[in-house]
Amino acid sequence: MCGIIGYIGKRNPVEILIEGLKKLEYRGYDSAGIALKGNDIEVIKSVGKISNLEDKINNSNIIDSNIGIAHTRWATHGEPTEINAHPHTIGNITLVHNGIIENAKELKEKLQNKGIKFNTSTDTEVVAALIDYYYKGNTKEAIEKAIKELKGSYALAIINKDEDKLYAVRCESPLILGIGEEEYFVTSDIGAILPYTKNYVLLGENEIVTLSKDNYIIEKDDTKVFRKVEISNLSIEDTSLNGYDHYMMKEINEEPILVDNLVKKYINNIDKLPDLKKYKNIHIVGCGSAYYAGMIGKYLFEDDGIKVECDVASEYRYRNIIYDKDTLVILISQSGETADTIAAMRKANDSQVDTLAIVNVESSTIERESTYSVLIEAGKEIAVATTKAFILQVLILSLLSYKINPDDKYKEDIKKLPQQLKVLLDKTGFYKKLADSIYKHEDVFFMGRKVDYAISMEGSLKLKEVSYIHSDSYQAGELKHGTISLVNEGTIVFAIVTDDEIRDKTISNLEEVISRGAKPIYVGNVDVNYEDKIIIPKVHKKLQPILAVPPLQMIAYFVALKRGCDIDKPKNLAKSVTVE
Ligand code: F6R
Repeated sequence: MCGIIGYIGKRNPVEILIEGLKKLEYRGYDSAGIALKGNDIEVIKSVGKISNLEDKINNSNIIDSNIGIAHTRWATHGEPTEINAHPHTIGNITLVHNGIIENAKELKEKLQNKGIKFNTSTDTEVVAALIDYYYKGNTKEAIEKAIKELKGSYALAIINKDEDKLYAVRCESPLILGIGEEEYFVTSDIGAILPYTKNYVLLGENEIVTLSKDNYIIEKDDTKVFRKVEISNLSIEDTSLNGYDHYMMKEINEEPILVDNLVKKYINNIDKLPDLKKYKNIHIVGCGSAYYAGMIGKYLFEDDGIKVECDVASEYRYRNIIYDKDTLVILISQSGETADTIAAMRKANDSQVDTLAIVNVESSTIERESTYSVLIEAGKEIAVATTKAFILQVLILSLLSYKINPDDKYKEDIKKLPQQLKVLLDKTGFYKKLADSIYKHEDVFFMGRKVDYAISMEGSLKLKEVSYIHSDSYQAGELKHGTISLVNEGTIVFAIVTDDEIRDKTISNLEEVISRGAKPIYVGNVDVNYEDKIIIPKVHKKLQPILAVPPLQMIAYFVALKRGCDIDKPKNLAKSVTVE
């Protein structure tokens, strides 16, 4: 994880780097740091949010400079302390790093045996030491030699105290080169440089870019590489709060329009989506919410008569999967860069079965390397907790299912979704009131059967990750096999009940917990006689989850707000999990 940004050009880089880091903060926010190259190199670091680093910089006399690199960290090797924060310097070399060096320990021992001293327990300092070790007057050559010895993932932005240059290289971690007017940027995410340029170049693995103030050269193994300049279709508004207090709320409120866009794009042009009818087996793989979207997909495709397995990517990649030749592996990922999901995709690709990516980020690793891909077109999602991307992942799965088994009712109902979502999301007063009754609790349970279980898993994850309330979700029939002993007088239990076929069963299970003191919150499409209930419109079965989840997202938001949590950047998390 971690976010990096580098600048070389005509301006003083401090503001560009700090504002860029703020846009990258979703990638990690344990600590941050900046290095500026003037006559000398100045490094400033601080623990915690970017605002701490900004305060520190505002209170120091910083050097004159036109070159700088900066980093926001999600700790992997070494605690989130100031000393472990990036940039790291050894000898001539100062660098920032996103990724994990798996052989850092061996490399460190080798360098220590040569008399090199280390100040931190980070893998990044080892990279700086290795490049410095090979530096004999040519930085690019030193980087080239060093990366040949690295195992793991890295995106690096590097400066040398004796040169007015900036270097960058990547392997498995994202890094792009931004091209401005007489200025260049390197960054983990285009969003960090949108105020200055929309032009960018995707760097291939182990291609080293050397940037000076007036040109750039990309090379791999001493050969020049020419890469197309792409133009991002993101706008600055995509990355601004637009009047909302939090990105999470902004992004939830984008759901109606984004759903409308995708519906209009596909419902009368369903041929634009891949046809899954030809597959006998489908494996769906993702992490966290993307996995829960996949679970919803499993129920949809099973109803279409296809055999489906759904796995979390970190398990799938290590399982002994027996592939039949008519198997499709669907990879679901907002970022398209989740390390475990990438590994699952490569495993399937290596086994010669088709892969289909359902992703948000165009040109991300998963999008590029899968056999087929469908973009969910959510725009930039900044809040760490996914909301709109989840809804659009489910929408694409639902459209794929409709393509297998089309029917008129679906076509009618899908067009109503945007308006129904809007009405549901407008009930903020109602969600706030429910949140008032929840926020003091320390344990909350969710339950549901079949697709309602998948919905309840997502509702539970959303609540716990943003509000820090312990919350668990169970298959409704399973509670009485153990967990029911945790139900006390007043324990809140959400029951998700949207599937007609098992409605009565889930209601019976809800009654079981009510008779043991639980306070129920019913989420369903049929009105019932419970005090706390969220009634959603009844729509085609394949669309129902799209209306059931947004109210749960709203409740999670308002509970977190009441508890004073850092809603967009919950503790210990990062948006893009690019490490195993
Ligand atoms: C939860 C959340 C995570 C992600 C997961 C996968 O709100 O956002 O569980 O869904 O880390 O990320 P992507 O979709 O980028 O692969």
